[in-house]
Amino acid sequence: MAVTEVPAKPVGTARQGLGQTSRRDAWWVAPGVQATVFTICATYLFVSGILWTPIFGTAYEVDGYLSPLFSPLITPDWLPSWISPGLLILWIPLGFRATCYYYRKAYYRFYFADPPGCAVGEPKVHRWYRMETALPFILQNVHRYFLYLAFIPLFFLWVDAAIGLRDHEGHLRFGLGGALLFVNAALLTGYSLSCHSLRHLLGGRLDCFSCTARARARHTAWRAATWFNVKHMEWAWASLISVTATDLYIRLLALGVIGDPAIRL
Ligand code: FES
Repeated sequence: MAVTEVPAKPVGTARQGLGQTSRRDAWWVAPGVQATVFTICATYLFVSGILWTPIFGTAYEVDGYLSPLFSPLITPDWLPSWISPGLLILWIPLGFRATCYYYRKAYYRFYFADPPGCAVGEPKVHRWYRMETALPFILQNVHRYFLYLAFIPLFFLWVDAAIGLRDHEGHLRFGLGGALLFVNAALLTGYSLSCHSLRHLLGGRLDCFSCTARARARHTAWRAATWFNVKHMEWAWASLISVTATDLYIRLLALGVIGDPAIRL
C-alpha cells in the first residue's frame, strides 16, 4: 500500500530557535495583548456559559434580556440541572471561532509560538509538526460548515434584541441592556459576514465575474463580503469583547449588582 509522505515543515529563512529574530521592533506586544484579552474572554465565556448556571444557579435572563450565550434558549425536559442549556447551542459559535482562519493565526502564535511572530524563530520541535494535514488540526477544515450553522444563533440574537425592547410589563424600553444586545448582534453579524470562507463561497471558483447575470450577482455579493472582510480581525476582537460584556451585564443585572438605565414609554 502506498504511504503518503508528509513533507517536513520548511525551515524558512528566519533565524532558528524560539524567539530568535533580527527584528528590532516590539514584535511581542501584539501577541501578548491578544493572548491576554483572548484568555480572559474565553475563560469567562466558558465559565459563564457552561459552569455558572449549574453550579450557582445564577439567572441568564432578566426582565426581557437573554444572555447571548443561551440564545436560542433550549430547555428540554430531559436536560438534567447539572448541564447548562448554553451547552446545547454554544458548540456552534465555539466551533466557528476556534476554526476561524484569523483566530488560527492568532492563537497559533500566542499559544503555540508557531511562529511567535513574522520572521521570529520557533521551537525546533515544530519541525515535526504536520500542519493541518493530520489530526488534530486537520479538523480545522470544517470551518465552512460552522459558518453555515453560525447564522442560526445569529438570527436569534437579533430576535432577542428586538424582544429586549419591552420589559416584563410590556412597556417599550430603551435601555443600556437593549443597546448592548443590538451592538452585540451587529458586531457578530459583521464578524460572520467578513468570514474568509463566506467570501470564497460567494466569489470563488469563477473564471468570469461579468459573463452571466448569475456571475454578476455573485460579484456584487463578493464585493460586499470583501468590504466586511478587510476588517475581519477587528470584527473578531470587537465581537468577542461585546459577547463577553453583554453576558456580564445581564448576569450582574440578574444578581442585582447593577441597574439598567432606561427610558420607558
Ligand atoms: S475566517 Fe474567521 S470567521 Fe471565517
